Amino acid sequence: MAILMDGKAVSAAVREEVAREAAALTEQYRQPCLAVILVGDDPASEVYVRNKHKACEACGIRSLQYHLPADTDMPTLLALVQKLNNDPTVDGILCQLPLPQGLSEKEVILAIDPKKDVDAFHPVNTGRIMSGDYGFLPCTPAGIMELLHRYGVTVKGKNCVVIGRSNIVGKPMAMLLLNESGTVSICHSKTEDLAFHTRNADILVAAVGKPRFVTADMVKDGAAVIDVGINRMPNGKLCGDVDFEAVQQKAAYITPVPGGVGPMTIAMLLKNTITATRNHWEEEK
Ligand code: GUN
Repeated sequence: MAILMDGKAVSAAVREEVAREAAALTEQYRQPCLAVILVGDDPASEVYVRNKHKACEACGIRSLQYHLPADTDMPTLLALVQKLNNDPTVDGILCQLPLPQGLSEKEVILAIDPKKDVDAFHPVNTGRIMSGDYGFLPCTPAGIMELLHRYGVTVKGKNCVVIGRSNIVGKPMAMLLLNESGTVSICHSKTEDLAFHTRNADILVAAVGKPRFVTADMVKDGAAVIDVGINRMPNGKLCGDVDFEAVQQKAAYITPVPGGVGPMTIAMLLKNTITATRNHWEEEK
């Protein structure tokens, strides 16, 4: 029976560290500040943004919220980003994705000052991740690495399989695993004989977006299985990309949904905001 990787507990520990650092910065420099932009009224995004706001408040990070209507045009959105780029009291800027149809995610990401890009989505930061020179770490992959570390799962020399090749999770996840000397495969919707790859994985990361996609026959005995999926079922319940009940019988470690990767993502965002504030302070010294 697998050991449950408790993202709630680990994220609470990280948040305590963040709260201590936020208090020290507030006393010695100024209060760390994260600005979050939400465009439109996607219900899932509204929940994510509310959770980010609550997490900031609980840790002593100032949280600025900008909720723009779905029919906002690109110049208006870019003008807000510029205003926040130029505000010396704002350390981090995050524009919640996806954006409504007609707005360019690429343009917004490019407009955010890389020094304030706490999502690590700007090409300057993704490029730094490629070369192992880390400024900001991408929040979901960094949260997964933190879970692996805290549960003593070593990556070096292990077969690591990431299912999903998104810019937000799959690609940066592969880079972080590679940086710790894992042997990494990225699988995706066009991969032939997916189970052949996954059955060989010591560390399996599922970021597919399909409920219970990873079944027990796809998992190696004793693997660490990380479930990034958050799928809302018709009964309103959340379900991951992994068939949790069956896979937990076979894996050595597994993350639950909810309460696994999700809370870690927010914890890493808070950490990145503290990093941004520290960098600001260093620059001003
Ligand atoms: N949408 C889903 N995940 C994320 C994230 O980590 N950052 C942003 N900005 N949008 C998201």
